[in-house]
Amino acid sequence: MSCTQGGASAFALTTADRRSLGGGWLRPAMEAPRKRGALQVSMGLRTRLLIGIAVAVLNATAQAQDAGPRTVWAGVYTEAQAARGAKLYADKCSSCHGAEMIAGAGAPSLAGPEFTFVWDKKPLGGLLDFVRANMPPGQAGSLRDPEYAEILSAILKRNGFPASMAAELPAIKADLDAITFVTDKP
Ligand code: HEC
Repeated sequence: MSCTQGGASAFALTTADRRSLGGGWLRPAMEAPRKRGALQVSMGLRTRLLIGIAVAVLNATAQAQDAGPRTVWAGVYTEAQAARGAKLYADKCSSCHGAEMIAGAGAPSLAGPEFTFVWDKKPLGGLLDFVRANMPPGQAGSLRDPEYAEILSAILKRNGFPASMAAELPAIKADLDAITFVTDKP
């Protein structure tokens, strides 16, 4: 009961306020139609900008959901790059890791389940870091980063991951960290 009365009196007050303030509301709008027009335009731009941003964010989210995290199955190196890597590998790595990357003279395999088990679900940046910091033993870091990336391409190819026409495997750790080594084909 008291609630209804409160509501009614609030409404009455609002009506009174509106009546007394009416002139105040209308006058600026009538006196400065240009200003109001400008305000409307700028709000229109802002609204359109906000809608644009919202659409961009939604698109980006949709794309991210479509693609999922980027993996070695996405085609992350080129054939030419892997061919250069194979030459470097034969020269610098095969004496220990074997011509076919299968365990040889006291060094682990760089192909097959023994190898993929170690790196499965890990960012590729870790593989670059390991090789750069340790290989060839005693001459770690003796190759340039793009050369290490070429050898990684050859290793990826040997393990059956597809090449692409689009882009070479990056030689920068941060970029490689955006690619995940995933053993099983999705
Ligand atoms: C003198 C022998 C020798 C040479 C040459 C050599 N490696 Fe190795 N490599 C090893 C040994 C031994 C290990 C195991 C050491 C360890 O795991 O700490 C190893 C480990 C690795 C691993 C880690 C394997 C795994 O299962 O995770 C990679 C990758 C690798 N080497 C790449 C290379 C590359 C690329 C080159 C050429 C630039 C190279 N190695 C040259 C002996 C060698």
